[in-house]
Amino acid sequence: MSTDLDTVRSYDAAAAEYAAEAAAMPEWVATEIDAFVTGLGGSGRVLEIGSGGGRDALELEKRGISVRRTDIAKGFVELLRESGFEADLLDPLTQDLADPRRPGTPYDGIWACACLIHVAREDLGTVLGRLAEATRTGGRLHASVREGEGEDYSTYGSAVAPRRYVETYWRESALRSTLTDAGWIVSEIRRCVGRPHDHWLSVRASRA
Ligand SMILES: C[S@@+](CC[C@H](N)C(=O)[O-])C[C@H]1O[C@@H](n2cnc3c(N)ncnc32)[C@H](O)[C@@H]1O
Repeated sequence: MSTDLDTVRSYDAAAAEYAAEAAAMPEWVATEIDAFVTGLGGSGRVLEIGSGGGRDALELEKRGISVRRTDIAKGFVELLRESGFEADLLDPLTQDLADPRRPGTPYDGIWACACLIHVAREDLGTVLGRLAEATRTGGRLHASVREGEGEDYSTYGSAVAPRRYVETYWRESALRSTLTDAGWIVSEIRRCVGRPHDHWLSVRASRA
């Protein structure tokens, strides 16, 4: 069980740059937000994993959802705080997921867009199980991972300041059984395409 620290440091180093690049809402994410908000009945308290630059939290709040912004990379947490938002540093694999602002109250939903791609294959079940434990029965989950085989190791930046990212790819059947074993009832796993060659498996599920 381990978190890839090169990936986290790489996001730290490039948080502002990443936030600017990701600021425009992709069409498939907008569709997932619609479904998620509808599933929540237009209200509720949500834990966001991997808030990044905060694009999705803003949209969810516009629709009446209360969002706890979190990220594993302190670069994003600082960026969000500088913009006036509350945000917490949080590793969903190892840290307490309970809501410090609503003690004793489970979340109504979890929003984890394009971030569990960085969780190692052998750890995804643990993360999904911990997210389920933090959510009320019937609460909703959005999670999206890349579709494909194996892992991808990519390097960007300069030799002095390299940025290294590890991503894990998933096939639908393995993802579905990992979700089910972790305590989620899967309603749908949708195939979504962002930029060309950017293939996502987008999960809509509820807490068993
Ligand atoms: C591709 S970005 C997506 C950010 C944002 N959700 C969006 O859609 O623009 C990946 C996010 O996952 C976070 N992350 C990196 N490693 C992670 C891990 N092991 N567990 C959870 N999140 C992680 C990064 O800090 C970053 O915020």
